[in-house]
Amino acid sequence: MRHLAAHVCLITTAGPDGARQGLTATAVCSVSADPPTLLCCVNRQIAPFAAIRESGRFAVNVLGVEDRELAERFAGTIQGEARFNTGVWTSLATGAPVLESALATFDCRLTRLEEVATHGILFGEIQSVRSRASIAEPLLYAHGAFGAFTPLLQS
Ligand SMILES: Cc1cc2nc3c(=O)[nH]c(=O)nc-3n(C[C@H](O)[C@H](O)[C@H](O)COP(=O)(O)O)c2cc1C
Repeated sequence: MRHLAAHVCLITTAGPDGARQGLTATAVCSVSADPPTLLCCVNRQIAPFAAIRESGRFAVNVLGVEDRELAERFAGTIQGEARFNTGVWTSLATGAPVLESALATFDCRLTRLEEVATHGILFGEIQSVRSRASIAEPLLYAHGAFGAFTPLLQS
């Protein structure tokens, strides 16, 4: 898995009681353009999984390099609402938390859930999208470390 270089996202939700939950995730993949659908894989043992299943909503916030600290925060020991104490947060159609500084955010309604081993595969139909107007550097994760994208020179 360490060889699967990946984009870094924050998957966020507001539970049925409105309490915010979120995690750092790289297991995010596009599925279909019509209807616009993506999937993500979330550990069934962690609190955000239950909150997404119960509320039926989640947002995928794609991080840029300047949000590396948020990536660490949402994978670390701080739990629940406290993870949202840094960053500017709003919401779109579903009410799931949306990070203002994200490169793009996909605001999703949970349409299907498959349980596979330790994880749940969450399918989300995208209800609205927000993306930054300017080109910004994506945050990547490979070989157990965060990094930035370096284009190769034309050969
Ligand atoms: C770079 C990175 C990528 C991760 N990707 C995923 C992922 O795709 N799915 C997942 O369930 N957990 C993933 N994790 C782990 C979760 O972020 C972590 O288990 C979660 O935030 C812990 O939540 P808890 O403190 O509520 O248990 C990843 C962690 C890191 C550092």
